[in-house]
Amino acid sequence: MTQRDRDFIDYSPFEETYKKILITGGLGFIGSALIFRLLKKTNVKIFNIDKLVQKNNLLSVNNQFSCYGKSRYQFLNHDLKDNENLKKIFEESDPDIVFHLAAESHVDRSIESPRNFLESNVIGTFNLLENALIYFKNLPINRKSNFKFLHISTDEVFGSLGKSGLFNEKSNYNPMSPYSATKAASDHLVDSWFHTFGLPCLVSNCSNNFGPRQFPDKLIPTIIINALNSKPIPIYGNGLNIRDWLFVEDHINALLLMATKGKPGSHYCIGGGEEKSNINICKKICTLLDDLKPQQTPYSSLIEFVEDRPGHDFRYGINPTLILKELGWKPLFKFDQTIKKTIIWYLRNQDWVKFVNQESGFKGERLGILK
Ligand SMILES: NC(=O)c1ccc[n+]([C@@H]2O[C@H](COP(=O)([O-])OP(=O)(O)OC[C@H]3O[C@@H](n4cnc5c(N)ncnc54)[C@H](O)[C@@H]3O)[C@@H](O)[C@H]2O)c1
Repeated sequence: MTQRDRDFIDYSPFEETYKKILITGGLGFIGSALIFRLLKKTNVKIFNIDKLVQKNNLLSVNNQFSCYGKSRYQFLNHDLKDNENLKKIFEESDPDIVFHLAAESHVDRSIESPRNFLESNVIGTFNLLENALIYFKNLPINRKSNFKFLHISTDEVFGSLGKSGLFNEKSNYNPMSPYSATKAASDHLVDSWFHTFGLPCLVSNCSNNFGPRQFPDKLIPTIIINALNSKPIPIYGNGLNIRDWLFVEDHINALLLMATKGKPGSHYCIGGGEEKSNINICKKICTLLDDLKPQQTPYSSLIEFVEDRPGHDFRYGINPTLILKELGWKPLFKFDQTIKKTIIWYLRNQDWVKFVNQESGFKGERLGILK
């Protein structure tokens, strides 16, 4: 965390309003970044619901959270597709705010096994909303007025852009993959719980994130890990698909601002304005690795173009004007610096990568990948 970041977020309004935080998906990439930030920067108590498929990730990440003690962090091993126990979880954690990040998040896996995506992303969100509403209705009036349900979603719900144009909060939903369709469905459920039942919900639609602890099957970790293991680096199609990349800590800043200043019923589009093609990202990482961990041949010689993903969206790009103007958010981190930081993290944490890969059975070779 840089001085710049410390200056940007004022944690006092957050701590004053929210003492107990319920986070779903907190062992994942973005959820764990949120928990680390809150444990380090505030005194709030965190309850983390995660279904824990990758047990070794639990060992490495959950153990680090647990160092803060039970008064600060509690892990609740639960699959959101099961409604049972959620009522009890709400009663016992007694949260002031919910950050809902749990989701099946990999497009390729959604093509292989869409049912898991329906169960986690749609049924899981429905179960969480139902129980959040029962809990919310019974809150005393002073706590009710501050309560928020933040649903963390993606720009992929809007479908694909051509060479020009940007998504904003008024863009039509047009999801193309089973992943984005289930995220779109969950966004609609969340909006309907606001409009129909008055649950104070907010939705973020964020572009591609990158940073430490992203699971090895996503694009940037795959490039780094395969390169380090001298394995082919698979790039879908011609590699010209474009994504708008955002460093994960900028996303966390946006979520914290939504918690303190965001208006219930709103969607906020979040993006760093760092549009890059997959092949350019890949070349950039290879060049940085040539410097950081030189080998006899340049890493770019490992790049291999593979058959394109079915229905592969061409381009995503975000116009973040609303969150800039309404909440005072801005991206603080430049891609060129943070991608280097991210590569260094993977270089230093190869045990983490091995653990996660062993547990998930992921070989790091097959998927070309985006989110
Ligand atoms: N990674 C991105 O670039 C990006 C961008 C925009 C939005 N998002 C959204 O942010 C959220 C987090 O993404 P991420 O990249 O951290 O994903 P991730 O796959 O790294 O983490 C998701 C976590 O959710 C948990 N989970 C999944 N299904 C669950 C269930 N049924 N019950 C309980 N826990 C469950 C997983 O075990 C995992 O720990 C997702 O909702 C995703 O759609 C991600």
